[in-house]
Amino acid sequence: MDVKQDPAVQQEQEQGKRIGKIVLEVKDLKTYVRTKRGVIPAVDGVSFYVKQGETFGIVGESGGGKSMTAKSILRMEPKPAASIEGGEILLDGVDLTKLSEKQMRKIRGREISMIFQDPMTSLNPVFTVGNQIGEGLRIYEGKMDKKTLKAKIIELLKKVNVAAPEKRISDYPHEMSGGMKQRAVGAIAISSSPKIIIADEPTTSLDLTIQAQYLRLLREIQEKSGVSIIFITHDFGIVAKMCDRVAVLYSGRIVEQGTVRALFKNPSHPYTHALINSVPKVEKRVDRLYSIPGQPTPAWERKKGCYFANRCEYAVDRCFEAYPPTFDGLSGTEGHLADCWRLEDKTWKPKPYLA
Ligand SMILES: Nc1ncnc2c1ncn2[C@@H]1O[C@H](COP(=O)(O)OP(=O)(O)OP(=O)(O)O)[C@@H](O)[C@H]1O
Ligand SMILES: [Mg+2]
Repeated sequence: MDVKQDPAVQQEQEQGKRIGKIVLEVKDLKTYVRTKRGVIPAVDGVSFYVKQGETFGIVGESGGGKSMTAKSILRMEPKPAASIEGGEILLDGVDLTKLSEKQMRKIRGREISMIFQDPMTSLNPVFTVGNQIGEGLRIYEGKMDKKTLKAKIIELLKKVNVAAPEKRISDYPHEMSGGMKQRAVGAIAISSSPKIIIADEPTTSLDLTIQAQYLRLLREIQEKSGVSIIFITHDFGIVAKMCDRVAVLYSGRIVEQGTVRALFKNPSHPYTHALINSVPKVEKRVDRLYSIPGQPTPAWERKKGCYFANRCEYAVDRCFEAYPPTFDGLSGTEGHLADCWRLEDKTWKPKPYLA
């Protein structure tokens, strides 16, 4: 097969981004949750990497393990029910799974920060936004005089495009619009100059205008600071707008990953194909949007074979017998991977839907 090296490069160049070395590498991560019905492998051997300045998407239906992956990276898996049972989380080569809680406190909010779509989950209503941004700055940069601190807060507010930051600095959250509050949260998120920002989009989408503002804010933050972003969503339409590369998560496993362009052009796993086809197309009027039939099988009812087999219209006998291997080099590019038995036939691909 004619396999080209690093397919992400061309797309990155087109977007005018500066993509650097790998900052985060997750290798065969396993996070299990103990429940009354038994142990659930919420994250079941997940591997991916994120480069400096790139946006890496994690997409999939509810319950797929997106948030659990994010929480595990921050070592905030809900303990004691959940625990990391295997794998490595390498941040610039340091394995976070080996760090103590005390050491992790220096990573959280500092080297890796989280940003939420709903700003009220991150802002404290009884302090001014200047105060809250300043608090972060003081923690990360140490003590400084009032004048320097104020100048730094104003600089951060400018970075997230807040107009008249000298005035806004003394506003309380309730005195700001929704979009403005998000910008303040963005300023807090970058106050520590993190290497990575994790943005976990809630499944229940907020107001579309607020969502659009949030996406724009994330892009601006990345342009100005060169930070890497892990962007979590259930919506492939948003992946197309936001991400460079993407992993599709199904029942705790990555079933396909690669550049966004490769996955859109050549979705190779039937689940990816179905997810992409459930995105409304602006240029096409459809009476009914395609939706994937059935539900993921709960872990305790799962039988051997591919986890998606019972919902897959392409499943053959073999799919019910053993979990498929990972095929690389799909669409002729290294790093476009998918787990599907049907890919043994190199000419096979899912058929277009007639939505
Ligand atoms: N605190 C918890 N206690 C027990 N099980 C949990 C807990 N949090 C998550 N799980 C289980 O772990 C699995 C993965 O959940 P996770 O929240 O990561 O999904 P998700 O992909 O983020 O879904 P959503 O799109 O709804 O946010 C699910 O089976 C879920 O029921
Ligand atoms: Mg979630």
